[in-house]
Amino acid sequence: MEQQAQTIADSPPPIAEPPINPAQAFREVMGCLPTAVALVTGLDDGDNPVGIVVGSLTSISLEPALVGFFIGTGSNTWPQIERSGRFAASVVASSMAQGLAHFVANRDDRFAQIPLDTSPGGLPIPREAAAWIECAVEGTHRIGDHDLIVGRPLALAGRADSIPLVFHSRQFKIVSAAG
Ligand SMILES: Cc1cc2nc3c(=O)[nH]c(=O)nc-3n(C[C@H](O)[C@H](O)[C@H](O)COP(=O)(O)O)c2cc1C
Repeated sequence: MEQQAQTIADSPPPIAEPPINPAQAFREVMGCLPTAVALVTGLDDGDNPVGIVVGSLTSISLEPALVGFFIGTGSNTWPQIERSGRFAASVVASSMAQGLAHFVANRDDRFAQIPLDTSPGGLPIPREAAAWIECAVEGTHRIGDHDLIVGRPLALAGRADSIPLVFHSRQFKIVSAAG
């Protein structure tokens, strides 16, 4: 028997159509998109580690190699990292879930539960990161209320067998094989 294709009409009602509160609808709909969980790190002017969780880390170009992420123009931490012209971006591993929850919930002593190593260029990188990339800031581009930060990799390493965290529907989740 021919299997009936599931159409969009069979699925649960959509989150929002036409939006009553456009900003809220935009947030909720975009929350359906799973994103990476990365930690952008650097040193403040007292050489203390500082960091920002970003969901927007992405590969931009292969030749030349370029990565990027979007940072809100109101970020307090990014200007501290940017001063040196370099940053590290690390892919957060599932083993870091508790440490990351502490990082997100606390403004002080954020790295208390995230053990750090040092990149070749002297930037803090989480010891348990699934991957890390140390970058020089290649450029910044204002787009709406965010800046696109473009980075040129200087050093990088990753573990192919690591299990990364993702962010989806306001929750941190663990990636596993579909098959
Ligand atoms: C899962 C997740 C993803 C996030 N992604 C971004 C992002 O891509 N860009 C951004 O500016 N802030 C992002 N944020 C918010 C920042 O982590 C941070 O709270 C915000 O930039 C303000 O911090 P700051 O003032 O210390 O810079 C994200 C937060 C979470 C929990």
